[in-house]
Amino acid sequence: MATICALLLLALSGAAKATELMIVSDIHYMVGELYEGSDLFLRVLRAGDGKYTQHSDELMAALCAQVARERPDALVVTGDLSFNGERASHVALAEWFARIEGMGVPVWVIPGNYDINVGTARGFDGDEWYYTDAVTPEAFSEIYTDFMLSAVGDASLSYAVRVDDGLWVAMTDVSYYRDEAQTFGLFTSGHADWLEDVLAQARGAEVVTATHHSLLEHTAFSRDSFLMFGHEAMEALIRRYGVRLNLSGHMHAQHIVEKDGLTDAALGAFCTWPHRYARLTIRDDGEMTYEALSLDGDLLPEDFLDESRTWVEGITKDKMIAAMEGVSPDARGPMAEYATRFNLAYFSGTYCRDDPAWQEDPVYQLWLGYPNSSMWRYMKQVMNESDGDNLYRHWD
Ligand SMILES: [Fe+2]
Repeated sequence: MATICALLLLALSGAAKATELMIVSDIHYMVGELYEGSDLFLRVLRAGDGKYTQHSDELMAALCAQVARERPDALVVTGDLSFNGERASHVALAEWFARIEGMGVPVWVIPGNYDINVGTARGFDGDEWYYTDAVTPEAFSEIYTDFMLSAVGDASLSYAVRVDDGLWVAMTDVSYYRDEAQTFGLFTSGHADWLEDVLAQARGAEVVTATHHSLLEHTAFSRDSFLMFGHEAMEALIRRYGVRLNLSGHMHAQHIVEKDGLTDAALGAFCTWPHRYARLTIRDDGEMTYEALSLDGDLLPEDFLDESRTWVEGITKDKMIAAMEGVSPDARGPMAEYATRFNLAYFSGTYCRDDPAWQEDPVYQLWLGYPNSSMWRYMKQVMNESDGDNLYRHWD
């Protein structure tokens, strides 16, 4: 027994040191005081894209519990912190982050396109809505002052964290909100100067970059709103310094693309079923693992995950049916059900192009009869995308 223990100790002491980062994106948190008791707010959500924002506090409580369970070295948040830019939501979310830092886990945030200078930030009261305060970039950095390092020069709210000698994380704020929040992201010459400086200082260490918008093209649909403008410049720059991984969000779909040794891992939206987060393990011998996970069900109220799935399914199916003009009433239900399943699989990162079940399903034949419908064109684009594991990647 003594020999086995000694061997085990030896193996442990010989193991490379590992840093574990937990990542979340697109929390879209909304503080209760801005909507509690409002039917209108629920109707707004019901007409949306499946965000389970009416349960923001339960989700944040579960995230805290998940952090307590996993004890990562830091929590990285890649933008879209608030539902729609409300100051009160930012303030309340910062309190949740303070709880996480209270456990000894640093939190690092960058804004997304729904966070700063959002002119349409609203609150809800019964069947009425009203404009509520948004935040300027200065107010944003004040609210999240404990969860970001001070911004540098001309690169918006970007900052770099030197985790240790072997690892840096470059939190790169490419969201565009100069006068008013825009959907797109933009990598400017100011970002390039700042990032090159970081990369030069970090030479010899692993650098992971993090942005809200995509660095690489993930999908042909909505390309211009997902992919940041100036992505070519950022890609060329970080390739020169050997960066292997960019963390992003924004698409709300769990999707990973790799292009000539550079990977962009877009994390599914935390606010929507299956409530993704990711675990990135970086060892000092260069090995790296990215895993997309979901909150553990036992950390949420009973039936939460089932109800959250039912919520997004119902919303998606209604949208599908509404988009099916010209489809016979008999076919409409099964086709909408198929498209809903397809969409949920794609957004949660579990769609597999090579799974024959999608084509063997008799409803696939029904869809072939509607080649010009926008839903079918979208599904065809997804089916033609290059296939790969969207939940797990490993680098040697
Ligand atoms: Fe978002």
